[in-house]
Amino acid sequence: MSKSPDKVRVGIIGAGGIANYHAKCYKQIPYVELVAVVDIVKEKAKDFAQRWGIPEKNVFTNHKEMLESVELDAVSICTPHAFHASISIDCLNAGVHVLVEKPMAVSGDEAYRMWKTSQKTGKILMVAFQTRYSPELIAARRIVQSGALGKIYYGETTCYGGRRRGIPGESFTRRSTAGGGVLLDLGCYSIDNAMFILGHPRPISVCAKIASVIGPQEEAVVEGGWKWNPKAFEVEDFVVAFIRFEDDLVLVLKDSWAMHANTLGTTFFLGTKGGLRLWPLEVYRDEWGYMVDLRVHELPKIDPFFRKIEEFVKAVKEGLPSPIDPKEIVVEQYIIDAIYESAREGKEVKVKLPADLIS
Ligand SMILES: NC(=O)c1ccc[n+]([C@@H]2O[C@H](COP(=O)([O-])OP(=O)(O)OC[C@H]3O[C@@H](n4cnc5c(N)ncnc54)[C@H](O)[C@@H]3O)[C@@H](O)[C@H]2O)c1
Repeated sequence: MSKSPDKVRVGIIGAGGIANYHAKCYKQIPYVELVAVVDIVKEKAKDFAQRWGIPEKNVFTNHKEMLESVELDAVSICTPHAFHASISIDCLNAGVHVLVEKPMAVSGDEAYRMWKTSQKTGKILMVAFQTRYSPELIAARRIVQSGALGKIYYGETTCYGGRRRGIPGESFTRRSTAGGGVLLDLGCYSIDNAMFILGHPRPISVCAKIASVIGPQEEAVVEGGWKWNPKAFEVEDFVVAFIRFEDDLVLVLKDSWAMHANTLGTTFFLGTKGGLRLWPLEVYRDEWGYMVDLRVHELPKIDPFFRKIEEFVKAVKEGLPSPIDPKEIVVEQYIIDAIYESAREGKEVKVKLPADLIS
């Protein structure tokens, strides 16, 4: 990959909630210049530009106009999920490196096209999973990959055990902007966390159920929970999936935006010689003739969100490959496709990977 200039010029596409966290991090990195912003709502783009010191002439309502008018090295794509793929592909084709928010896309085929475009253009495509920089996850991966737990044969994965009443805003609950519900929003983390820790095993098949239970109920918008619009609720708020991988490994995924329970459980893995759970990280083994529980004394204290932005711009500046291999996430998007297909058909289905994703 070619070396970029000393300053990394960044544009932000989609000036909503998460874009502000991107901007805050970029602002802390001396060699980054925040130069342009796009939002389909002009006022949002203008406010964002004022807040983060972006010149008014570089405020746009369409990303193509920005790509034509401003010289950029990189963009952060912070739009609702349904636009991640098309905007990423346009930016890559315009010669700009891309940090795209999670989920990568709303289907495996979209994600595949994004990956292929990054290969063709030689531009970085990074999916913004800050969880990849979580000290717990990095330690869990190190422990599992060391072989200390033996062969992992079963795991459960969930985004913090689900939310009791945590349905996000309308851009997440309308099918036209979100493409799907909690599976795309939180399930993408659950899958990526497990795949990262397990070393990206090959998925084979999925048996799943999704449900839309609490989201459409007006009376479920209660005190103490997040506020959402039940009339705009068109997606699932619950998912459970039984995912088979090569080498006889099974993973159960459970995620919820809303439920009548305080937890769906935790993320854990069972191996032939030991087990491990996340949050808090704990390892279970037999030692000295006893069952022992092990905890890491002190994990590094870092801000994973800042680290992901820092790693992205460092890769842009130094001409490095994407800090998170997009091919790994494309495979995960095909798992998500299979979960939706299995839930629709009410039976186990194969995970249909294109030939060049099967290593
Ligand atoms: N990594 C994280 O921790 C994290 C946290 C929250 C959200 N996200 C992801 O970030 C994305 C955005 O989430 P959000 O909470 O900021 O949503 P949001 O609805 O607050 O903001 C999205 C913004 O994009 C704008 N927009 C819509 N279509 C556009 C288009 N075609 N071009 C330009 N702008 C467009 C909207 O007007 C809105 O201002 C989602 O995909 C979400 O999953 C990631």
